[in-house]
Amino acid sequence: MKRTIIITGGAGFIGSHVVRLFVNKYPEYKIINLDKLTYAGNLANLKDVEGKPNYKFVKLDICDFEGVYKLMQDEHVDGVIHLAAESHVDRSIKDPFTFAQTNVMGTLSLLQAAKLYWEALPEKWEGKRFYHISTDEVYGALELTHPQGIEPPFSTKASSGKHHLAYGDKFFTEDLKYLPHSPYSAAKAASDHFVRAFHDTYGLPTVVTNCSNNYGPYQFPEKLIPLFINNIRHKKPLPVYGKGENVRDWLYVEDHARAIDLIFHEGKVAETYNIGGFNEWKNIDLIKVLINTVDCLLGRAEGEDLSLITYVTDRAGHDMRYAIDSTKLQKELGWEPSLQFEEGIEKTVRWYLDNQEWMDNVTSGDYQKYYEEMYQRR
Ligand code: NAD
Ligand code: TYD
Repeated sequence: MKRTIIITGGAGFIGSHVVRLFVNKYPEYKIINLDKLTYAGNLANLKDVEGKPNYKFVKLDICDFEGVYKLMQDEHVDGVIHLAAESHVDRSIKDPFTFAQTNVMGTLSLLQAAKLYWEALPEKWEGKRFYHISTDEVYGALELTHPQGIEPPFSTKASSGKHHLAYGDKFFTEDLKYLPHSPYSAAKAASDHFVRAFHDTYGLPTVVTNCSNNYGPYQFPEKLIPLFINNIRHKKPLPVYGKGENVRDWLYVEDHARAIDLIFHEGKVAETYNIGGFNEWKNIDLIKVLINTVDCLLGRAEGEDLSLITYVTDRAGHDMRYAIDSTKLQKELGWEPSLQFEEGIEKTVRWYLDNQEWMDNVTSGDYQKYYEEMYQRR
């Protein structure tokens, strides 16, 4: 079946993996990467798909309602996979307005454009889908708990029936009340509410997913994992917020992209699915794994770079623990993460070490010239 899908934020970290997957897996689809190219957008993330006949890049702000509406009409768009967002918590603390503008108003502009375009068609919502990508951070923060006095992490059994290590006895499930704490998660939560409202009010065929922290190639080095890999390589200090006790639940980015593919095609309209791999890590333990992996791959002595760990002032309102329960997705749609964490981390560290030019271009700002060089001259 032919389809035309807009993927917003396709030049960013997760978006570039989703674009790559869809362009390669569905040659019969037309994939339009709609991205404003903020500091987080890097078209070099997509060099390998740039020349494919079913791929098109459009530089556009999701807040530009007229532009988005026209694009939907001109291209006869029947699907939207919406990833474009401001995504970094630390930036949201310094500049909450930009987060409200992009994440809330931008999502509203896309919803309204899709609604107006689709509802005017003879077949209306038939064959259409608006898929909004959200985060587990909208659920707020979980506690580190010690059931029966046992020190975390302890082995626990999720409702999926599988055992895994956890730092508490509560998990984020789809029915949980939203309790965002940071301006980033508050803005994402507001956008999720608008998506639901467009389904409930107008019948827009929506689906929402809330995923845990992603890691893998092409992540902007302001986020923990790529920042620390690069700092270890260059023997720069590793700024650990607070005591490094906070817990995050990590998923390899290609597993997230596979889940998005599955849910876009088979997820039920108006449903929410949590995406995560039951893979909780205390920051300080994860940082030690990163140090050991980088040192080992660079032939340095074991533990040589542990001294780079530098405890710094904690992030304001720092959420203690995120832990996603993705049982619904696993049971209803049969999704499972494909990579064990150890394997995923080694693959990721190797990628950043092997792609120093990508990292240098990002840290120097040169990546922002890529669009002009590749697209403006055409
Ligand atoms: P990112 O910051 O790497 O990329 C965001 C992309 O959106 C960039 O290409 C940027 O240019 C684009 N963009 C920003 N504002 C725009 C605008 N106004 N118009 C058009 N494009 C714009 O983000 P990411 O980490 O890839 O996250 C993608 C999505 O997934 C976000 O919605 C985020 O909330 C969600 N998410 C991320 C994680 C994670 O761990 N990174 C986890 C769960 C959910
Ligand atoms: P981050 O990658 O920013 O993702 P998020 O805030 O969305 O979870 O941070 C992951 C964890 O690492 C989080 O608990 C904050 C912590 N952190 C540091 O300790 N130092 C750093 O320099 C950064 C960027 C994050």
